[in-house]
Amino acid sequence: MNMKYQSLFESFKFPCGLESKNRLVLAPMTHWSSNPDGTVSEEELPYYQQRAQGVGVAISAAVMVALDGKGFSGQFSVHNDDMIAGLTKLANILKNNGSLAVLQLHHGGRMSPPDATPDGKIYSASAIPAEREGAPIPEEMTEAHILQTIQAFGDATRRAIQAGFDGVEIHGANTYLLQQFFSPHSNCRTDRWGGDVHQRMAFPLAIIDQIKQTVATYSKKPFLIGYRFSPEEIETPGITFEDSLLFAETLANKELDYLHVSTNDFWSGSMRDQNDKTSRVLGIYNKVGHKVPIIGVGSIRTPDNALKALETGVSLIALGRELIAEPKWVEKVQNNQLNSIRTTISKKDQVELIIPNNLWNMMNTVPYWFPMVD
Ligand SMILES: Cc1cc2nc3c(=O)[nH]c(=O)nc-3n(C[C@H](O)[C@H](O)[C@H](O)COP(=O)(O)O)c2cc1C
Repeated sequence: MNMKYQSLFESFKFPCGLESKNRLVLAPMTHWSSNPDGTVSEEELPYYQQRAQGVGVAISAAVMVALDGKGFSGQFSVHNDDMIAGLTKLANILKNNGSLAVLQLHHGGRMSPPDATPDGKIYSASAIPAEREGAPIPEEMTEAHILQTIQAFGDATRRAIQAGFDGVEIHGANTYLLQQFFSPHSNCRTDRWGGDVHQRMAFPLAIIDQIKQTVATYSKKPFLIGYRFSPEEIETPGITFEDSLLFAETLANKELDYLHVSTNDFWSGSMRDQNDKTSRVLGIYNKVGHKVPIIGVGSIRTPDNALKALETGVSLIALGRELIAEPKWVEKVQNNQLNSIRTTISKKDQVELIIPNNLWNMMNTVPYWFPMVD
């Protein structure tokens, strides 16, 4: 290995005591390829096997904790015990080469497509649709439904433990249900689940407490709990960076193993104020990085980018599309094969890269998402 990159390969100990063999993380990425009943498909396993080998922590795609929170077609599920067998296979594949396996727990809320949920209904904090053309109006969740959903996150954690995962990541980012409760755009409740910025934290905090209680009851060994959130929303009203700094401070006092700041570009500034160029990831790190490990992510394409990002002080760097394009990204840095790191994807590469069909179709359909070349 070129010693320049040595710091990327230093181990890292999380607060719970588990140790990552290096500073690189497989970012959670949905692949639309699970079986129709929500079980893990045979197509997904080799895809993960390829990408989990080099990283210290491998985070799964978002897995639904309840059927009414299904966010995508082909999403896999952890909503009942029948899912545990497939999830066990997945956990084993992710852990195969000494990586920590983390299951990302998700509920789509108002972002769920109504045709994906059992009764065609979707739910959120308030009956306010997302700001996009034709977005369906969700039903406001009742108190009982909120409590049932919190329980579902706890039950999902119990299943993750039984399947052999090393931890769970709570998906509080990217406009899904937990973010909807924190956002003044989607949460106009006047009961104990809504109100000012602090009151809007109530739902995600209750989920964290439920998960912690579940881990204390069911896990015989250290178990990671991470929280992923998006630092801003574009809408007005919407989550501001000031809101997120307050939330990050609260999360930092919850004794979590990490906060994962979800951005498309590690270095990007505010999406609400074009004049504010300060990296959102670093803003969060500067506020709470002394209390809780931070994972940074977003367009970290080269080993030099990864080094520069790590040198800011964040604990770990997550790679998403980079590991789809180059499953051996980490090993190639380690073996000093930098010139052979693939940065574009040719239409002929699907089989060699072991990419499930539905993910491949998305990659070829959504413009500018992936570095596709002819
Ligand atoms: C195909 C695809 C699927 C994704 N699915 C998820 C997901 O399930 N959960 C999540 O939190 N983020 C998801 N993301 C966001 C990534 O985790 C990551 O934050 C983003 O791609 C930026 O990192 P990158 O530039 O390294 O790809 C997804 C991204 C891609 C490209």
